[in-house]
Amino acid sequence: MIDGRSLLVVTGKGGVGKTTVTAALALALAREGRRPLVVEVSGKDDVARLLGGPGTHGAYAERAIADRVRHLSIDPDHALREYLDAHLPFGGLLEHTRLARLLFAATPGLGELLTIGKVWELARGAGRDCVLLDAPATGHAIALLTAPRTFAAAARGGPVAEQAAGIRRFLGDRRRTGVLAVSTAEELPVNETLQLRGALDAAGVALAGVFVNAVYPRRFTARQVDVLAAAPATAASRAGRFHATRARQHAAGVRRLRGAVGSVTAVRTLPYVFDADDVARDLAGRVTR
Ligand SMILES: Nc1ncnc2c1ncn2[C@@H]1O[C@H](COP(=O)(O)OP(=O)(O)OP(=O)(O)O)[C@@H](O)[C@H]1O
Ligand SMILES: [Mg+2]
Repeated sequence: MIDGRSLLVVTGKGGVGKTTVTAALALALAREGRRPLVVEVSGKDDVARLLGGPGTHGAYAERAIADRVRHLSIDPDHALREYLDAHLPFGGLLEHTRLARLLFAATPGLGELLTIGKVWELARGAGRDCVLLDAPATGHAIALLTAPRTFAAAARGGPVAEQAAGIRRFLGDRRRTGVLAVSTAEELPVNETLQLRGALDAAGVALAGVFVNAVYPRRFTARQVDVLAAAPATAASRAGRFHATRARQHAAGVRRLRGAVGSVTAVRTLPYVFDADDVARDLAGRVTR
């Protein structure tokens, strides 16, 4: 799933555990002696806060959030400022906020291009171990991954087109970039994962693996399930029946995902963590094995 890739993009339906899985991956890679850089977009710092580090407070600077784990939050305004400062001789003189507003309004997809451009710059950086992008949910993540293609096609020639083409090549190189889809075993997230797979195929970006998160373990044998079904309705028997039903539904969801994508990519299940204060640390031992 991870191999020697420089950029891993973690995405999936809202709330399925993208941030938790990204944090778990970062901890797991650090334990293996690597030095991952976790990147978040739209100014977010959820992974940093999850791992107990101080929030970014709008400071777009790389910093340590755990042993051997670094973090950077990107936002489009900041990425635009950096881009203009680097590429225009008079960039520093412009009134950025107003200019940014004008440019973003006039150019759909510019925020996505600048954001993924910054991610690309970080991931291809010399000596960089691996960038883990805690990407937004599926639709917005696809917009990020396809922005370079759109711009490369629209701007015929010139520095923007050239850079967009470079980013596109990097994202399309399966040895360097891979998407890790996070799903749960419920029907809607599974549907969305399959849609993501279709969109990635169309965009020429590799699906490096699927994590089916928060899966209920099977605790009862078929015989025990029958006994539970016939048992008087007590709190314990209701809890048991609920668990057994959930576990059966989850097993079906996992089978459905494996049937649909298991031949092209690894599908790994992660358990529902019932009583851990720290889900990410609990899952860290399971994400890379
Ligand atoms: N395996 C798990 N077992 C139990 N709880 C989990 C598990 N994975 C994630 N959670 C919990 O589910 C909630 C949502 O997780 P998380 O924030 O990682 O999702 P997300 O996909 O990043 O959400 P968003 O789309 O809002 O960014 C959190 O409270 C997290 O602790
Ligand atoms: Mg999140």
